[in-house]
Amino acid sequence: MRLKGKCAIVTGAASGIGAASATLFAEEGARVLAVDLPGKGLADVHAGQGNILTREQSVADDGAPAAIIAAALDAFGRLDILMNNAGVASNALAAEMKDADWDRTIAVNLTAPFKLCRAAIPHLIASGAGRIINVASVMAEGTDYGLAAYCASKAGVAGLTRTLALELGKFGVTANYLMPGAIRTGMTGPLWDARPDVAEIWAKKSAVRRLGRPLDLARGALFLASDDSEFVTGQGLAVDGGLMLRV
Ligand SMILES: NC(=O)c1ccc[n+]([C@@H]2O[C@H](COP(=O)([O-])OP(=O)(O)OC[C@H]3O[C@@H](n4cnc5c(N)ncnc54)[C@H](O)[C@@H]3O)[C@@H](O)[C@H]2O)c1
Repeated sequence: MRLKGKCAIVTGAASGIGAASATLFAEEGARVLAVDLPGKGLADVHAGQGNILTREQSVADDGAPAAIIAAALDAFGRLDILMNNAGVASNALAAEMKDADWDRTIAVNLTAPFKLCRAAIPHLIASGAGRIINVASVMAEGTDYGLAAYCASKAGVAGLTRTLALELGKFGVTANYLMPGAIRTGMTGPLWDARPDVAEIWAKKSAVRRLGRPLDLARGALFLASDDSEFVTGQGLAVDGGLMLRV
């Protein structure tokens, strides 16, 4: 019960890393507001998990960040942990990328987390041990063909998080980011099912020779959400099985 008495928001909680993190936080004693898009089966994913409330809403809609924070406060009366996990991938060579793809990727992956953090700050300060956990990617530091928008958004998340850590440390609020490696989730699973050879390449690239599981990331998020990490702030935690060790 490492999060007993804590109240959390987890976005993108209908699938993958967000679903596993919301579940683990609740198992560790937190009350959780789980947020995801309408039509993603969010309530079914968390059915029977009494500590989890669900809210279907895009984090990128106008007014959504303030509404999501308000919903958590209405339900719990406090907010201790904000996990900005909702994210989208996009793949297009920079020369061919449409404005709409760039704008959507930045809106969901970077602007929405910023606005959620901004709306949460007074409540995280009031918590006395507030925690911001933003989900970036190993692509915050690396890159690949077609990932201009995605990499820019995730590098932005890293910079945003470091600045939040600097500004909020004196209030007892920490801000850190996760850098997942190659994790089998809703984002990657369909591609890897269609191209098992690609999944195999990613698995072999990692030092531990396997793909990541959502629970691997949830455990990293739990550390950053818990009192165990109270002296850790502004850091990117790579949970990638050693994927990025080789240059
Ligand atoms: N899977 C990987 O290998 C990997 C690697 C690095 C980083 N990440 C990051 O991890 C995070 C979680 O992704 P995942 O791999 O679990 O993928 P996923 O697709 O399984 O989960 C992402 C969830 O975010 C939700 N979402 C998307 N747009 C949203 C919006 N506008 N509002 C609310 N919810 C929204 C989706 O509906 C989905 O349920 C993302 O930020 C992703 O960029 C994943």
